[in-house]
Amino acid sequence: LRQLLFKNPNEPPVVFHWFPLIGSTITYGMDPPRFFKDNKEKHGDVFTFILLGKKTTVYLGTQGNDFILNGKIRDVSAEEIYTVLTTPVFGKDVVYDCPNSKLMEQKKFMKIALTTEAFRTYVPIISDEVSSYFKRTAAFKGPSGIVDLPPKLAEITIFTASHALQGKEVREKFDESLAALYHDLDMGFSPINFSLHWAPLPWNNRRDHAQRTVAKLYMDIIKSRRASGETGAQDMMYHLMNSTYKGDVPVPDHEIAHMMIALLMAGQHSSSSTSSWIMLRLASQPKIMEELYDEQVRALGADLPPLKYEDLAKLPLNQAVIKETLRLHAPIHSIMRAVKQPMPIPGTKLVVPTNHVLLAAPGFSASDPQYFPNPELWDPHRWEADAVNAPRIAKDAAAEEETIDYGYGLVSKGTGSPYLPFGAGRHRCIGEQFANVQLQTIVAMIVREFKFRNVDGSDKIIGTDYASLFSRPLEPAKIYWERRQKA
Ligand code: HEM
Repeated sequence: LRQLLFKNPNEPPVVFHWFPLIGSTITYGMDPPRFFKDNKEKHGDVFTFILLGKKTTVYLGTQGNDFILNGKIRDVSAEEIYTVLTTPVFGKDVVYDCPNSKLMEQKKFMKIALTTEAFRTYVPIISDEVSSYFKRTAAFKGPSGIVDLPPKLAEITIFTASHALQGKEVREKFDESLAALYHDLDMGFSPINFSLHWAPLPWNNRRDHAQRTVAKLYMDIIKSRRASGETGAQDMMYHLMNSTYKGDVPVPDHEIAHMMIALLMAGQHSSSSTSSWIMLRLASQPKIMEELYDEQVRALGADLPPLKYEDLAKLPLNQAVIKETLRLHAPIHSIMRAVKQPMPIPGTKLVVPTNHVLLAAPGFSASDPQYFPNPELWDPHRWEADAVNAPRIAKDAAAEEETIDYGYGLVSKGTGSPYLPFGAGRHRCIGEQFANVQLQTIVAMIVREFKFRNVDGSDKIIGTDYASLFSRPLEPAKIYWERRQKA
């Protein structure tokens, strides 16, 4: 009754709830896409719900994506939301523990290391890591077997990313203590830490110890590189050591170390969840896995030579499988911003007040039938120009895609696109190209080695686990694998 009586006509409609603090936390948390769909039917694209006591305003659709992701710095803040989680994990003075203008400079430094030239060196590193993983891992011994895929792909992701982005010396430490330390750091990303990040809970103590230990490890490498005058491979650390902030201020060692942690952590969950989904989708549609194999044979030759960066461009279906998987399984389902000033929603009487959090869900527009016919169908072929289910994205929206430079290079504003798995605007992902190279290489190498199918031979696909900040397949997610007979 209170909710009906005290309704403010200038505020978005509020999703009905019984308890003021819990609000819709549980219905949202169990299945965010369903929650968005149900409430869109009742309230339209803009509505408010209570998430852990906080008024959270969702704005769906391409206009909502634009409103939130391209919000002005005086209107919206990402750091205000994320810093409680990220600062204890990454460390001080980087990403969300500094003014946004500093983050923009840091993103520029990180992006400089992610060039085509660097990717050329990454493809052999990643493919060798994948091959050696399958040779040494007990779960893949013999001609066939059943395996719970996500934990294996999490390992492949961290080994390949750490080796490519952080070099051999860091990668080798993952075989020793570093994997356990990163695991402890990861505990800091439990959603419960949104409210209990400060508490002296056992996992927070372990997180803090891990943060100090890992940061020291990177700082020791920096010191020894500096002492020996060694420039090493021109890897991420090299670039950060040679970058300067405005006014010619060098990047302090502790910030380099913290950025190294941030980079690895930012990519880990999203890339590993995506590679798991790709493999589970291939197991549910083995025909596509065969098409991928045939594509490689056709484009690269029957002897399948060692993979090179240039080869990736010759494998359009391999690329489409990643694109289509990110359309249906974007790992970041909710992007949040704190509202700093009352924000009128154009074309309506509504104003989002300052005590609200804004929530964008680009995954929602990526499964809108208006743009993607048969949206629930995982169909990598839809990305071919004349496909039956080809995206119906207005040509002018794609062509006139606005770009903008926030200080870390030209990025798409994503204003017209319903497909934004890497976000848009100021906080857009800088890891997109790296993730693509990493995923394309992993997929190509796995396809060379294996045939997958669901254990029961069906085309079923497992449900999604939304319990952590990044969505991923529910576990165990077991599939049947068979080693491909070499010609
Ligand atoms: C930001 C997605 C891989 C580094 C983002 C955002 C999204 C995203 C949606 C925007 C978040 C926001 O607006 O609040 C993904 C997906 C990936 C992926 C789907 C893989 C499939 C990576 C990798 C790296 C990385 C591999 C590092 C090498 C970053 C960084 C930001 C970011 C530094 C910027 C955060 C900010 O400016 O606030 N990513 N990402 N990501 N991502 Fe990624």
